[in-house]
Amino acid sequence: MARKIVVTSGKGGVGKTTVCCNLGVQLARKGYSVAVIDLDFGLNNVDVVLGVENLATYDVLDAVEGRCRARQALVRHPRFPTLYTLASNRAGERYVSPQAVRLVLETIAPRFDFLLIDSPAGIEEGFHRAVSCAEEALLVTTPHISAVRDADRVAGLLSSYRIGEVSLVVNLVRRDRLRRGEMLSPEEISAALRLPVRAAIFEEDALFLDNVSERSRAFRRLAEEILGGGEERRWKRRK
Ligand SMILES: Nc1ncnc2c1ncn2[C@@H]1O[C@H](COP(=O)(O)OP(=O)(O)OP(=O)(O)O)[C@@H](O)[C@H]1O
Ligand SMILES: [Mg+2]
Repeated sequence: MARKIVVTSGKGGVGKTTVCCNLGVQLARKGYSVAVIDLDFGLNNVDVVLGVENLATYDVLDAVEGRCRARQALVRHPRFPTLYTLASNRAGERYVSPQAVRLVLETIAPRFDFLLIDSPAGIEEGFHRAVSCAEEALLVTTPHISAVRDADRVAGLLSSYRIGEVSLVVNLVRRDRLRRGEMLSPEEISAALRLPVRAAIFEEDALFLDNVSERSRAFRRLAEEILGGGEERRWKRRK
């Protein structure tokens, strides 16, 4: 059964989709079966970032509303055979219940190791829907005070969901600014939010230009962290 991890944030544009897709690629490179689920309705970004926008016949809403089976809406990545995407709907926002989406995800969960759920920015309906489908959360923030403050708000909200584990990804870190003390460090952010940091991702040209960087060491390490954490948790549960 898949681990269901939502990638969320308070502030928009901090790198949720980038984290979701790059983590998916790294886990797939290790041979894990992964579905990246785009629950940012109306904007469909995941398929573009992963370069599969022309391959989807159906989207998540088609599956929710019964126009196709959930597995028919999954698109296999041409380069990574264990990486799939489930595109968000193109029709724009309309009410879709969290329960209906959760049900679709439940039907595909048994065939995957990971469902990575990309959430929209903000703390409204789309956030609620994405978070309701997950059991773990990666909270993405940048080192900017406004992003950290919004992440704090989201961390508070996450405690009212059935999320077993919340951890941070600090994105768009700049080495030069960090060295000069012009930026909050990942350690300071961790202390302020009282959450562990899974990864600090530097601002990289390859990510800016191509969205996905297969060779990114930071994302490889994030994948290892996620896998390590999982094993530890399973071990704890067995005791
Ligand atoms: N570490 C990084 N280095 C360089 N560019 C990055 C990095 N992370 C993200 N970006 C760029 O920043 C922009 C926003 O990233 P992304 O779309 O992943 O954010 P988001 O949180 O999903 O946004 P939204 O809230 O709109 O969904 C993109 O153009 C992306 O390529
Ligand atoms: Mg996004």
